[in-house]
Amino acid sequence: MKITTIILAAGKGTRMRSQLPKILHNIANKPLLQHVYDMSRQLTNNAIKIVYGHGADLVRETLKDLDVTWIEQQQQLGTGHAVQQVSHEITESDTVLILYGDVPLLKLATVEQLIVNVSDTSLALLTVDLLDPTGYGRIVRNAAGQVIKIVEEKDATPIEKQIIEGNTGILAVQGKHLKKWLSQLTNNNAQGEYYLTDIIEMAVADGVTILTTQPETIDEVLGVNNRIQLSHLERIYQLEQANRLMELGVTLIDPARFDLRGSIENLGVDIIIDVNVIIEGKNSIGNNVTIGANTSITNSIIADDVVILANCILDNAVVGKGSKIGPYARLRPETVLAENVHIGNFVELKKSSVAAFSKINHLSYIGDSTVGANVNIGAGTITCNYDGVNKFRTIIEDGAFIGSDTQLIAPVTIGKNATIGAGSTITKDSPENQLTLSRAKQISLAAWQRPVKLENQATGNKVLAETLIKDK
Ligand code: UD1
Ligand code: CA
Repeated sequence: MKITTIILAAGKGTRMRSQLPKILHNIANKPLLQHVYDMSRQLTNNAIKIVYGHGADLVRETLKDLDVTWIEQQQQLGTGHAVQQVSHEITESDTVLILYGDVPLLKLATVEQLIVNVSDTSLALLTVDLLDPTGYGRIVRNAAGQVIKIVEEKDATPIEKQIIEGNTGILAVQGKHLKKWLSQLTNNNAQGEYYLTDIIEMAVADGVTILTTQPETIDEVLGVNNRIQLSHLERIYQLEQANRLMELGVTLIDPARFDLRGSIENLGVDIIIDVNVIIEGKNSIGNNVTIGANTSITNSIIADDVVILANCILDNAVVGKGSKIGPYARLRPETVLAENVHIGNFVELKKSSVAAFSKINHLSYIGDSTVGANVNIGAGTITCNYDGVNKFRTIIEDGAFIGSDTQLIAPVTIGKNATIGAGSTITKDSPENQLTLSRAKQISLAAWQRPVKLENQATGNKVLAETLIKDK
């Protein structure tokens, strides 16, 4: 079976009150329309057509990598009009699936269940029973329970308005039929729009049966019309992901305070994630990893037995087995830590590799550096890697010990097992096994006196002696 999926996405989304077209708003950092696309892409033998209109340039630019045919609907004259724009692209023998670009949580299983109901003599319609069907088209059935038409809220009689079975807008139908019915649509209704829903009555008139199915949960067919609904769907989506992770062996201290905006491609077991952790992009997390509260992890690889304490930021970083990070550590892009490395509080690393068992425990900036194994970098060490124009590398070889409050002016190499005295500014390579230090000699002045405060006769204020003298 060949499928043509038409995603309707031309609407403006006035109630979003946004300069961005509605379908470009995100759930889990991914545009609404991309969610619908990703789901339908999983159907085999499927050609996807997107009807777009509002924010046309931005939509095309933002989603330029989608494997679809873009069809512009310049004026939004209704859902039927939108599908008419695609009519010339529809092959008669195709099964045509209609989806909405602003209904992002629809599941593949629901669509698969829907499309099996399409045949020469049947149309598949996804409906939903609603506590409050306000705003939805109502599914009108005859005494035998067969669907005979859909009536829009604004065209419904008071009795029809009491129907709780709503139209989700999602349907599937044979191309041959759809093409015929599309050509017969009129805009003779309360809204003066071309309603796609009018094809239901035409189908019935042509002896085509309407077969309805319902999604497993209402959440799947909820649309986004404003930012309140957007946040509601975000939480539904996040809770679903959280549940999936817990099923796979992850402890989430509070699934309501966890956000995955991307994926964890390789996921270990016995991972413990504290509250307010945000994971973005593509990541890998090994076994027995603990992630502290308020930590943000983006496009990173974390090996087994890693402990990340609270308030850390990892961005495009690699953390080796058994390493300990934080609290308050920042691993910037291209940080690569080997096994059993310790990175402590207020330490920032960028474009640097650190070999096994090395420690950078307090208040340091290590950028553009290659740090060997068993290196100890003291508190307040700074690699001065940038002269305002160029970046230079610092190399710290195995076993080196960098005393606290040291500046390493790159390019510079600290030799194997070298020791740097605390408070040094190192501008030249430091040899292996030696103590190198650069510090002014310490002196003490026996005759020195502290300044004292005197009283200003005029004002009664205490002021420095020197100031009083100047005032005279
Ligand atoms: C539509 C259905 C209604 C259903 C409801 C479910 C019709 C006539 N009505 O109503 O039965 O209960 O969806 O949410 O089909 N769009 C375009 N071009 C247009 C008009 C709409 O691309 O000219 C797109 C919108 O961007 C949106 C979708 O079609 O993604 C639905 O449009 P919307 O205006 O929300 O339809 P409703 O009036 O809510
Ligand atoms: Ca709608």
